[in-house]
Parts: sequence; structure tokens; C-alpha cells
Amino acid sequence: MSHTWWRGAAIYQVYLRSFADGNGDGVGDLAGLRSRLPYLKDLGVDAIWLNPWYPSPMADGGYDVADYRDIEPVFGTLGEAERFIAEAHELDIKVIIDVVPNHSSTASDWFKEALANPAARDRFWFRDEPNDWQSIFGGPAWTQVPDGQWYLHLFAPEQPDFNWDNPEVHREFEDVLRFWLDRGVDGVRIDSAALLIKSDTAYEDLDPVHDVYRRWRQVAEEYDDRVLIGEVWLPDQERFARYLRPDELHTAFNFDFLSCPWDPDELRRVIDLTLTTHAPVGAPPTWVLSNHDVTRPVTRYGRSDTSFAHGGALHGVPSDPELGYRRARAAALLAMALPGGLYVYQGEELGLPEVEDLPDELRQDPMYARSGGTNPGRDGCRVPLPWSGDEPPFGFGGSRPWLPQPESWRKLTAEAQLADLDSMLALYRTGLRLRREHLGDGTLRWLPSGDRVLAFTRDTGVTCVTNLGPGPAPLPDGTVLLASGRLEDGALPPDTTAWLLP
Ligand code: NOJ
Repeated sequence: MSHTWWRGAAIYQVYLRSFADGNGDGVGDLAGLRSRLPYLKDLGVDAIWLNPWYPSPMADGGYDVADYRDIEPVFGTLGEAERFIAEAHELDIKVIIDVVPNHSSTASDWFKEALANPAARDRFWFRDEPNDWQSIFGGPAWTQVPDGQWYLHLFAPEQPDFNWDNPEVHREFEDVLRFWLDRGVDGVRIDSAALLIKSDTAYEDLDPVHDVYRRWRQVAEEYDDRVLIGEVWLPDQERFARYLRPDELHTAFNFDFLSCPWDPDELRRVIDLTLTTHAPVGAPPTWVLSNHDVTRPVTRYGRSDTSFAHGGALHGVPSDPELGYRRARAAALLAMALPGGLYVYQGEELGLPEVEDLPDELRQDPMYARSGGTNPGRDGCRVPLPWSGDEPPFGFGGSRPWLPQPESWRKLTAEAQLADLDSMLALYRTGLRLRREHLGDGTLRWLPSGDRVLAFTRDTGVTCVTNLGPGPAPLPDGTVLLASGRLEDGALPPDTTAWLLP
């Protein structure tokens, strides 16, 4: 792969707890992931991004990190992680890990030390009085400790925020980066990347955060071919692009695309905005339809409001499963055709819907509890994958996965879909293979098209047409390479995407 492999890579997101369980305890692990590497190779991905795999009390699915230099025992050992990296590399698959620099865990040594000794609190954000900030998960962003002081946690109380005014925090994270880069990881996804620096009155996108990433870029460049990827949710695109300047992060997730409704004007607006935002800084755009924090596309696209908004997830919003499934297929080929990098969240390739009827007592996401149960939280997109067989746990491993899988998933197992040429899995496999040959990094040119139709040609010559209108749309001349649904008399049906070669 080229020196800048990440510019056009298809990156598969593994939420380890729910991917595959190798030791039968109901929780996904490294043994399970290693056993499924051939599946990912056959799927055609270039890289795997793993959510945090460190020792953690799991107050926020591992984003409460107790030790940045080890592996959560439920997932495996450091030795196994090293073997996994080597095995992925043998298959020519890159490995990206998740680093969480905004906050720690109350179970970390540093926080325990801070609790025991008020003189050791400067690594965190302790104050005598809290301000009025609210946690992103709901409720106050401050928790009081027994001696009366308060500490800041922008997320759950188990996730105390680091104080990035303290040089020791900078040194610690540069060392953590080297620890993993030395072990061969090819990249780092940076959690909550815009929140690190705080003043007494603001915490989002403060300018000194860029100094952190300039340093990290220097660290990454001590190694060959490594990538820094920012989780940067910012409404202002000009501010967003600053994170991607040539001496900062290499790429960032495109949350505008992920949140965008299934609407031709909105999609075109977001695609154009993405391209014009990235061009001046020379960073490749990325195209993301889902991740472990958002409603699964099959469910979202079947609703009357097809956009995604954080905090907007509601219990029991009706969704038309067939419509959602058709649109998710069309959206997948659209995303794969756009110039830049692509993210695929595990289960997206199986067309899994959001599981909306989880028993409340099994929900683990702090968002659910901290919203007083009004927000169902993110467990519904984190249900363990169905691999094979006719009943739960569908080959996931063990007998009782940590979240229950719906019986109806018997039709959605990887095994069932591998036997069906029209399945979502077949579409992803063919799409990713063709994408590797014909798409990825580069440019696009919009083509004139009918009402509610998006049509563009890539620099490589492939044309992509998506019909978001109510009736069939004519296709331009050319040979159809792949389509997300059957053509009707040579025309493109509603909610369908086709790729053509001239
Ligand atoms: C973003 C992560 O994607 C999410 O899962 C997590 O809860 C927050 N950051 C806090 O770490």
C-alpha cells in the first residue's frame, strides 16, 4: 500500500465487546477478533479501528481508561494484542487504536492518588466551587469528593477530565503514543479531540489544543506511515479544518455526512461543503454512515426524520424496515464512491437494524441512566454480531452475549448472507473490492441530473448515480458496474445507487 494509505482507505470499526467472543464469557475479545480476521480480509477492508481496549471499569464502554498501556483482561492480554497486530499486518490490514486524552477513569492510579492527596490534583480539573456546566451525558459536569472539592467530568462521573495546562499530562500522552506506535499500530483515533483545553468559561475548541496536535504530529512522524484521526464534532467547518492543517491531524470523521438526512439537496450541500473544507488544507475527506454512538442507518433511514442528532434518539420512533434497508444500501454505495477515506461500523455490512426493545435493566450506556431514561442511549447499535446459526447467540461465542440479540437476526447472520448474492454483505464485499480498484482518494465532478438525483463522475472514470426521488431515473450511457438494487427497464428505481463505467 502507498505511503499515504490512509487517504483512501476503507476502515472497519471494531467495537470489541460486541464483535466476537473467543472465550465464551459473553463479551467479545481479542481471541474472537483474531479468529475472524479472514472475514475482514474477505470483506475487503484496508484497516481496522478498535474502540478502547484498555483496562477499564466500563462505565462508558471502555472510554473510561484506567491504564493506557495495557489491555482489559476481559479482552485479552498485551501479548495477544501484539499478536493481533502482527496477524493483521500479515493480511495487509492496518491497525488503528483509540486514544482518550480528554478524560481518564476514576480507577486510574493518577485519579486515586489525587483523591488520596489534595496536593496531587493538578493532573485533573479540581475546583473548590463547580460552575454551571452540564455533562454531555446529562446531569451536572461536576462531582464532589469527600473533602469538599469538586472535579470536572464532561462525560460520566467515572471519567474525570485531565488538566492539559499541566505539562505532565502532555508528557504522559506523548509517551502513550510512542508505547503503541512502537508496538506497530498504524494509527490513532483521538477521542473528543476538540475538548482537551479548558478555561474557566469554555471547553470546546480552544486554540491551544492545536499545539497538542502539532506535538503529536511530530511524534507520529518519528515513525513511518502512521495516521492521526480526530473525533472532532464542530458546527463551524472553518474551525474544523484547522485540525487538519498539514502539521496537525491527518484526517477526521465526517459527522455532517453521518448526520445528514436522506435528502438530495442536503446530501449535495454536505458533500460540497466537505470537499471545499478539506481542499485548502490538503486533507482527504472521510465518509461515515455510522459508528458505536449513533442509530443504525437501516433504522434511521426508515423513519420520517432521517437525520441523526445527538440527544435526539427517542424510544419507539416508527421506522419502515424495507425502506430503511433499501436506502442504507444506496447510501453505502454513495459513501463508497465519494473521494477520500471510508468508515464501516461493524454490522453495517450485515444491514443490522438498531435494537430498540432492549430490556431497560440491561441497558448499560450512561446516557440512558443520566437522561432519566428519556434517551435510550447507544446500546441498540452495540448488540453483539450474529455470525451463524438459527438462534442466539448466533455463533457470537458463549451462551449469553452481554446484550441479547433479536431472534429475527437469524436472517442477518454473516453465514446466511454469504450464501445470498443479493445480501447486504455481498453488496459490501463487491463494493469494497471495486472501490479498491476504481475509487478511494481523488476528486469528483458533478453531472447534470434530474430532480432529486445525485450524479457525479470520479477522476478514475466511474460515474455514481443515486436516485432519491419517488420514480425511476434514467441512467447515463455506460456499463453498470454495481447497483444497490435491481434496475427497472434500464432505469434506476427510487432509493437506489448505481456505479457505471463509460
Ligand atoms: C466519543 C466516543 O465515541 C463515545 O463513545 C464516548 O462516550 C465519548 N467520546 C466519551 O469518551
